[in-house]
Amino acid sequence: MTVQIRSALAFDLPEIPALERAAAERFLETAHPELAAAPPSMTGAVLDLALREDRLIVAEQGDVLCGFALLDQRGEDGWLREFDVPPAFGGRGVGRALLAFSCAWARGRSCTRLTLTTFRAVPFNGPFYARFGFCFLEEATLPPHLAEALAAERDAGLRDRCAMAMAL
Ligand SMILES: CC(C)(COP(=O)(O)OP(=O)(O)OC[C@H]1O[C@@H](n2cnc3c(N)ncnc32)[C@H](O)[C@@H]1OP(=O)(O)O)[C@@H](O)C(=O)NCCC(=O)NCCS
Repeated sequence: MTVQIRSALAFDLPEIPALERAAAERFLETAHPELAAAPPSMTGAVLDLALREDRLIVAEQGDVLCGFALLDQRGEDGWLREFDVPPAFGGRGVGRALLAFSCAWARGRSCTRLTLTTFRAVPFNGPFYARFGFCFLEEATLPPHLAEALAAERDAGLRDRCAMAMAL
């Protein structure tokens, strides 16, 4: 079935935390299995604000939501803050389609690159983004939003995180 990517609507919001939880189960097979049990970061307040600012996009097959991306902007940097496709819908190009739409979202806001933080070595993180065209960024070159995000992630106990960017 064809995947459609669109801006989120209010009635999508209650489904987002369950999509995040289901996608996190992928981490059970990685060096970070504890993430599968982490509480969702997509709380009501975060989602409400993203909806109002048109920063939340969803993937839909028929009338079933099968993934989402939460975006942000800092200056000329687009910022992919959350990006999830549950394993039940994985490996069918849903993530690729969400990423392509995220690039279009950022271009539409005159961003010159799309940035993110992720796990360097988890196959569906760093290597996934590298195949899409993202490059790893050196710590010394990081803009404030990525330096602060990595510091917060380290403080939260996450290991092997890195920042990446792709020119748009
Ligand atoms: C990252 C994620 C969104 C990808 O979603 P997806 O719909 O399964 O990805 P796609 O089907 O579009 O696959 C795109 C490419 O990644 C590859 N890929 C997907 N899952 C993979 C995996 N587990 N291991 C290795 N490669 C993988 C596919 O082979 C495909 O490559 P190709 O187009 O060159 O053939 C999904 O794995 C996910 O939700 N992970 C858990 C949450 C997460 O890590 N989010 C990102 C946080 S930075």
